Amino acid sequence: MIKQAIIPLAGIGTRLLPLTSVFAKELLPMNGKPGIEYIIEECIDAGIKEIVFIISNKKEMIRSYFYKDKFYKDIIRRKKDPRIKKEYKKILKYRKMIKFVYQNKPLGTGDAVLKTKKYIKDKFFLMLLPDDLIINDNCSKSMIKIHNRYKASVMASMNVNNKTVSRWGIFKLKKKIDKKNFLIDSVVEKPSIKYAPSNKAVIGRYILPKKIFLKLKKQKPGKGGEIHITDSIQSLINENEKFISHNFSGKYLDCGSMDGYIKSSLEISKI
Ligand code: G1P
Repeated sequence: MIKQAIIPLAGIGTRLLPLTSVFAKELLPMNGKPGIEYIIEECIDAGIKEIVFIISNKKEMIRSYFYKDKFYKDIIRRKKDPRIKKEYKKILKYRKMIKFVYQNKPLGTGDAVLKTKKYIKDKFFLMLLPDDLIINDNCSKSMIKIHNRYKASVMASMNVNNKTVSRWGIFKLKKKIDKKNFLIDSVVEKPSIKYAPSNKAVIGRYILPKKIFLKLKKQKPGKGGEIHITDSIQSLINENEKFISHNFSGKYLDCGSMDGYIKSSLEISKI
């Protein structure tokens, strides 16, 4: 059973400047809710009981968002607004599930994952990248089903335009399992068009084995000088660890760029 999820939230969000000069990008509202709420709800609906947030000193705002007790209590006492009361209850519910760890240097997603090591209890855990929203179908839930059936690690996947392969982790597939699921032969972080093994990209949902921490501890910086989770996944594949790519059914929304954020907000407001 997958009961724990981790969410890397330490990124500074340069693609969303100037908003992110004072604001955590994951708290930017999308149709009246912070983007991170959609990710938390996806986790809850998929049966996750505990979420580890990886933040940084600069993203302390995210932690504060969940700890404004006095403020809420005063307002609720004075205003008796049922909507605010409901929102506060929701925040308290989320807070009970969330633990915080810190990644103060932007050394990469792999390094962020390593920070959660002391909290991960089970053999497998879920990771969600908050820039990647998937709507209309719970991708984590489908991935957990696949994991339960094959006892393997799983990554969300989507076919991307050939010209954009250098923006993603890209898979080479080994074997078809069924219409939506494939056994992975290899994965490479942000290859050039020339060296990309396919146009099948990793999207930000991963079911990873706990043993990835052993690889991450030794992981050398890769593309762009960062420690990539992709490189440690490849080390595990080299040792015959089974990884499945799952073509999710929902709609992918990229919230990490300004253009993407604006489009995603419009799209979400239609649900
Ligand atoms: C990360 C991963 C990459 C993956 C992408 C999905 O990249 O390193 O393999 O394809 O998320 O969004 P980032 O978006 O952090 O550059």
